[in-house]
Formats: sequence, structure tokens, C-alpha cells
Amino acid sequence: MLRALDPEAAHALVIKALTWAPMPSPSEDDPRLAVQAFGLRFPNPVGIAAGFDKNAVAPDALLRLGFGFAEIGTVTPRPQSGNARPRLFRLEPDQAVINRLGFNNDGFAAVGQRLAARAGRPGIVGVNVGANKDATDRAADYVAGVKAFGAWAGYFTVNVSSPNTPGLRDLQQKASLDDLLARVMAARERLAPERRKPVLLKIAPDLALDDLDDVVEIARRRRVDGMIVSNTTVGRPDGLRDRAGAREAGGLSGRPLFAASTRMLAETYVRAEGAFALVGVGGIDSGAAALAKIRAGASLIQLYTGLVFRGLGLVDEIKQALLRGLEAGRAGALDEFVGLDAATRTAEPWLA
Ligand SMILES: Cc1cc2nc3c(=O)[nH]c(=O)nc-3n(C[C@H](O)[C@H](O)[C@H](O)COP(=O)(O)O)c2cc1C
Repeated sequence: MLRALDPEAAHALVIKALTWAPMPSPSEDDPRLAVQAFGLRFPNPVGIAAGFDKNAVAPDALLRLGFGFAEIGTVTPRPQSGNARPRLFRLEPDQAVINRLGFNNDGFAAVGQRLAARAGRPGIVGVNVGANKDATDRAADYVAGVKAFGAWAGYFTVNVSSPNTPGLRDLQQKASLDDLLARVMAARERLAPERRKPVLLKIAPDLALDDLDDVVEIARRRRVDGMIVSNTTVGRPDGLRDRAGAREAGGLSGRPLFAASTRMLAETYVRAEGAFALVGVGGIDSGAAALAKIRAGASLIQLYTGLVFRGLGLVDEIKQALLRGLEAGRAGALDEFVGLDAATRTAEPWLA
């Protein structure tokens, strides 16, 4: 029924429903699904990706639905309306979405108030921060985010990989990234100890491997706590069936992103050499895809587009599949699988 509606209207309806509908009391996760990462304990590894609840309207409802963590945002210091509509497109035959929303969000003050109102409730809520489109000093916007949300965030995500703010992805270049991360990490260190939350860097799947070398080297040197791999792609993989949809400008997500984002995840894993944990995101729409992400190097995973096509039942389906995977592999915990396939994935011909 939702898919018969305009995609943006359907999304707004889902968020409203989450705030209104009586939520089931959350069932306890099997302890074998628990993950320890960035100094935090996640009850299960399945998170809701950034962009789903940009304004922190329903993080508790999402947690009650069974997610192990919820990432809100991207939030920018000042509110923004984003790009002109239409700006969100479903590519039904490809189980994909293209968006060019452009960081539409309510801004730090409004989102901060919502997070403050849930203070003390259980559950990890990460805050994904970005820069305003017209910012003159973009790094300063991220620094402001770390200061604004230190009290409320479970962790921060420094999002330098959205394709819909012109020039934003240039922050992944060596000199800019080093300056950005130096300033963000220094700002965190200046906070009171209880506000020093883990900082994760979220990257694009479209980086050249030479650039990924630099990104991971800088992330390690600046001692970030983890990386999220990946955001949407500006690429249009061969074989997309919705030709007209594929011509829309914006970031592509969903099933056709799986191969590129999983390859990038494995490439990041081998470069990180265990210095920090990774969150794998991009095209997960089944238990098998979730397990493949973990085997490629992810300690945690996140979903967005898979939910559009498969519904919220996907969360439980993945958790059940992970438990079956543990039993089949006679493993006591998921970290025994993390990165097992990274070497073979990185040895495959590029995007075969
Ligand atoms: C409609 C839409 C909006 C998004 N907005 C954001 C955002 O604000 N910040 C961000 O870091 N990622 C954003 N993303 C990217 C997702 O968090 C995720 O990285 C990407 O969609 C790949 O995962 P998926 O294939 O499971 O959707 C957005 C994705 C979609 C589909």
C-alpha cells in the first residue's frame, strides 16, 4: 500500500505512524547477537541507517521494533529544506532507490531538544552530522555538531559522503580530511569526559583505492573510533532495469549497491588492520546479505532501502538468520565471522 504512494509521502507516513502506533514491548535479544564495539555494547548488530529518521522523531519506536541501534540525521547546524521535489525515486524492478534530498533537516536546535527529551532512556542513538550547504567553513559545522550533541549521542558519525551537497565529498580528500578529523577529535577531547562519545567516519563507495589508502591512514592516525562503509553511490551499475529511473541524479541505494559497498568494506577492513571496528551498510535485504557483510569485515550493519521493499519484518528475519549462521558455524559470537572473507573479496577482479 505504501509503495503505491509517492515515495516521500510514504516515508513521512511511516515516520508519523511510528510516533503514534502503540509499540510492542521489546523482546530481549539472544545474548549471542550482542556486539561490543567502539566501547559500547550493542544488543544486536542490526541498525537503522542515517536518513531514515533524519530529525530524531522516532528513535525509541525504532529501537522497540528490534533494531540494535538507531542513527539519526544527517543534521546540519541550521535547518535546511533540501532540494526541489521530486527528489526521491523508487526503482522497483531493481529494488533500489535514488535520492537527492540534499540534507533536508530541522537543524541542531530542534533535533537537540528531541534528543534531550529522551535522556536516560535505554538504547544507542547515534547522531550523524553534516555541514550546511552554504557553510563557509564546513569543518566548523562538524565541530559544532560534536559540541551540540555530546550529551545526547551514543556516538557521532562524521558524514563526508553524501552526494547531494555539492563539494561535500571533497572532504574525503587527504588535506581536507586530515584538517576535519583533527578539529573534530580535538573538539571532542575538550568536552567533559562523559560527553566524549565515539566518532565514526562515513565514506562513499565510489572512492578510488589510492584515495581509500589515504582515508584509512588518516582515520587511524587521527584515532577515529570506527568507519561506516558506505553511503549511496553516484555510479549506475550495469544491468539496472528501470532505465528512466536510473537517469535521475542522486545517490543510488539498495540491492544494486551491495557489490560495490561490500567490496569497499572489505578493502577498508584490510587497511584498518583491526585498528577500529566497521559498520557495513549498502544493499542488505536478507539474512544472507547481512552475514556476507559481516564476513567482509563489518562488526555492525545498517539497513535502509531493504526496509522499503521488504518491510520492517526484515530486522527479525536477519537476526534469526544470524543465529542460524552461528549455530551452523558452531560459533559463540558474531565477531568470530568478522572479516573472514575480506581477503578473498579484495582479491576478486574489481567489481566483477
Ligand atoms: C532516502 C535516503 C536518505 C538518506 N539520507 C542520508 C543522510 O541524511 N545521511 C547519511 O549519512 N546517509 C543517508 N542515506 C544513506 C543511507 O544511510 C545508507 O548509507 C545507504 O542508503 C545504503 O544503504 P541501503 O542500501 O541499505 O539503503 C540515505 C539513504 C536514503 C535511501
